[in-house]
Amino acid sequence: MKKLTTVALVGAMAVSSFAGASASRWAGFGAANQFIGDVRRARKESDAQSAVREVLARAVSEPSSVTLAIGEPRVAGIHELYRAPDLTILNVVWAPLMILLPHEHRMWATIGIYSGREDNIVWKRTGPRIEADSAASLSEKEVFSLSQDAVHSVTNPIERTTGAIHIYGGDFFATPRSEWDSETLLEGRYDAERMARRNEISREAQDAFNQAAAAENSARFEANPADTAASLASVRAGYASALLSLSKIEPKDQHSLQQDGLWGTALTLKALCQWRLGQYSQALTSTAEAQSTATNQVYPRDQALLAALPGLIKTDQAYSKILNNSPFTEVEALLTGPNGAIADIQNARANTDKDHPVQIYLVEAQLAAYRNFTVAMDRLNNHATVPPDSLARTNAITHLSELNGLVKVQKPGPSAQELVNYWARLCGLPPP
Ligand SMILES: [Fe+2]
Repeated sequence: MKKLTTVALVGAMAVSSFAGASASRWAGFGAANQFIGDVRRARKESDAQSAVREVLARAVSEPSSVTLAIGEPRVAGIHELYRAPDLTILNVVWAPLMILLPHEHRMWATIGIYSGREDNIVWKRTGPRIEADSAASLSEKEVFSLSQDAVHSVTNPIERTTGAIHIYGGDFFATPRSEWDSETLLEGRYDAERMARRNEISREAQDAFNQAAAAENSARFEANPADTAASLASVRAGYASALLSLSKIEPKDQHSLQQDGLWGTALTLKALCQWRLGQYSQALTSTAEAQSTATNQVYPRDQALLAALPGLIKTDQAYSKILNNSPFTEVEALLTGPNGAIADIQNARANTDKDHPVQIYLVEAQLAAYRNFTVAMDRLNNHATVPPDSLARTNAITHLSELNGLVKVQKPGPSAQELVNYWARLCGLPPP
C-alpha cells in the first residue's frame, strides 16, 4: 500500500512570540524628554491637573511632532513613558475597535489624542451599580480630563489603532482600583491576577502547540510506521492540550487580549489546533472570527496561515476521500481544481511577502496536495500517472523550484537540500 502524506507544520513556523513592545522610544528624543520635564514641572503647581492639561494640549496640537518622538501607534498596549509615586505618563495604543470595561483610577487623569479617535462614557455610581452619565468623543488634538473619583469606559470606534497620551496624578500601576462588569454593571476588583493568568494560559497554549507541531514535523520523516503512529498519537494529544488551554480564556478576556494585541494570535492558534484535530468546521469558524474581530491584529504569518487554512483543510478532506475510494473527480476538484487546495494556498501566498519564512511552509503544503493528487490518479483513476505536460504537474515543478529558492535563501539548516529532495522524490518530480 502506498504511503500517503499530509503535510505537518514545520518547526520553523512555530507561532510567533506574543507582541507587547513595552520599550519606550522616548529616551534619546530631546522633544520627548522636554515634554516629560514640562509635565513634571506642571505636576508641582497648585492646580496640577490644569497645568498638566495645558502642557498636554500643546503637545497633541501637533500630532506629527508626537509621532516623530514616540513613533506611529502600531503595537497595541500600554507603554510606560514615566512613572513616579505622584505622576504616571503613558503612551496608550488602543487596538482597532477595542472596548475597555468601566473602571476607576482613584487619581485624576488627563487624556490627549495624537492619532485616531477615542470614545469615553463617564459613569456615575448608584449603589453597587453604575449608570451612564455623560460621554465624550475625542478626536486628534483633543484633550479630556477626568476627576479623581471618575469611572469611565473607553472604546476605540475606528478600524485602526488610536494613539493617546494618558497622564495620571499618581502611580497608575501601584493603586488598587475597581472595574465594573460590562453586562451587569456591578463593581468588582480590577484583577491584575486574572490578567497575569490570561497571559500564562496564552503562553501555555503556544508552547503546547509548538511542541506538537515540531513533533508532527519530525514524525513525517520516521522510517518505522509503528513509530510514526505512536508519534502522531502524542502529537494529537499535544494539539488537544493547546486547545484546552485556549478554552480556559474567558470570553471577557477578549477585550484585554485585544488590548494587548494577542487576540489575533490566540484565535489563529485555536483555528490551527482545530484543523490538526480534524475539527474542520470549527477551524473555519475560528478563522472567520479572527478575520472579523481581530482586524489589524493578525500578524503577517498568522494572516497567511488563516488565508491558507481552507486549502489545508481541502487537502485533508481529499486524503480521507482517497482512503475511502471516493470518485476520482471529487478528489481532483479538492486538490487541483480551480477552487482546490493548491489554488487556495496560492492565493494565501500571493497576499504574503514573497520572502516571508511562512512561504516555505505554504509551498510545502502545495506539494503535499500535489503528492496526494498523484496517489489519487494511481488509486482512483485506473493506475494513471499525471501527464508530463499537465497544468498540475507544471505547477508542481514551479513550486518545487520555489521551495528550492526559499530554503537556499533562508537556510533553515543543513537539511535544506534533503527537504527539497524529499519533496522531489515524493512527488515524482526531477530535483531542481
Ligand atoms: Fe482609564
